[in-house]
Amino acid sequence: MTAPYEPPYEPIAWVDRCVRLLDQTLLPHEVRYIDLPTVEAVAEAIEVMRVRGAPAIGITAAYGLALAACLAAPGADGSVLRAVEDAAVRLGATRPTAVNLRWALDRVTARVREATGDASAVAAAIEEAQRIHEEQRRADEAMAGAGANLLAPGSTVLTHCNTGALATGGLGTALGVIIEGYRRGLVRHVLVDETRPRLQGARLTAWELAQHGVPHEVIADGAAASLMAGGEVAAVIVGADRIAANGDTANKVGTYGAAIAARYHSVPFYVAAPLSTVDPATPSGGAIPIEERDASEVLAVDGHPVAPEGTRARNPAFDVTPAALIDGIVTERGVLRPPFATSIASALAEALAGAVPGTAGG
Ligand code: MRU
Repeated sequence: MTAPYEPPYEPIAWVDRCVRLLDQTLLPHEVRYIDLPTVEAVAEAIEVMRVRGAPAIGITAAYGLALAACLAAPGADGSVLRAVEDAAVRLGATRPTAVNLRWALDRVTARVREATGDASAVAAAIEEAQRIHEEQRRADEAMAGAGANLLAPGSTVLTHCNTGALATGGLGTALGVIIEGYRRGLVRHVLVDETRPRLQGARLTAWELAQHGVPHEVIADGAAASLMAGGEVAAVIVGADRIAANGDTANKVGTYGAAIAARYHSVPFYVAAPLSTVDPATPSGGAIPIEERDASEVLAVDGHPVAPEGTRARNPAFDVTPAALIDGIVTERGVLRPPFATSIASALAEALAGAVPGTAGG
């Protein structure tokens, strides 16, 4: 890739034994950082989406365990592990779909379990959380480079939800690919699905693209299919919250419809996600838990009711795109191609064996 760029904002940081977040519920109107002094404050921030996006949720929860370790009464051996295990239960219950959450909590807890004595358990929790964050930054760089290679010069690309630095604490997944593509002169323009009901596209992706000077327009989610029909879209690229062993992919609700429209109009559809988003224990999309959020998110826009009082609503926050509609999965180990059951299994095996990233699957 081109020389890595620094996003001009830091969505997640570990500062003075505190979790610092850029509060995404206030964007794009206000850039405010908040310091979270307790595990409960971290859990609340994930639940109400002050931080969101699969990798960012995992990193924040990992720092939440580091915080729990720091706050545990020192001295009595085992109290740090107990505090971390209790915190993992609370944080693990915040959002069900993004598998990065469970993956990050398990990694930090395992490190704390291995530590001998409370002092080294605290150090281990902090170190592991920082390592998860650093690995994500490096994975994002690798994905940006590999994914940009898929794009033809002058492309208009369409994306859904928000997958930038805000969602990963690094450069981003799909949005990292898009920004890298723009820096290489491959991406000319970005169409941003507004992403109802929480408007991550209109509020967050548009804000991030503006920070990077990338030309873009926000569209209503329902406009995507007809713009593809008109030949205006060269590729669709989105992120993921959980990828099953067979390649079925859960992402923000509306992704499935975009994938169907892309296939119908012969537009390539790519997913970009680190291998920490792959869940080999989930065989296929049907087994992915889909978060149902409060109906008020659908019945109101920016807090203003839009439906008659008393109207009921459904609010599944994610949907599953079948592997058959996906042309490639961009990972830190290269672009995986169908059949995904095979390409995913070998990428995971290589990662486990510690092979050098970027050599798998193309
Ligand atoms: O509900 P959200 O905003 O956490 O959902 C986020 C998404 O669906 C993203 O596309 C996904 O987490 C990938 S983030 C790099």
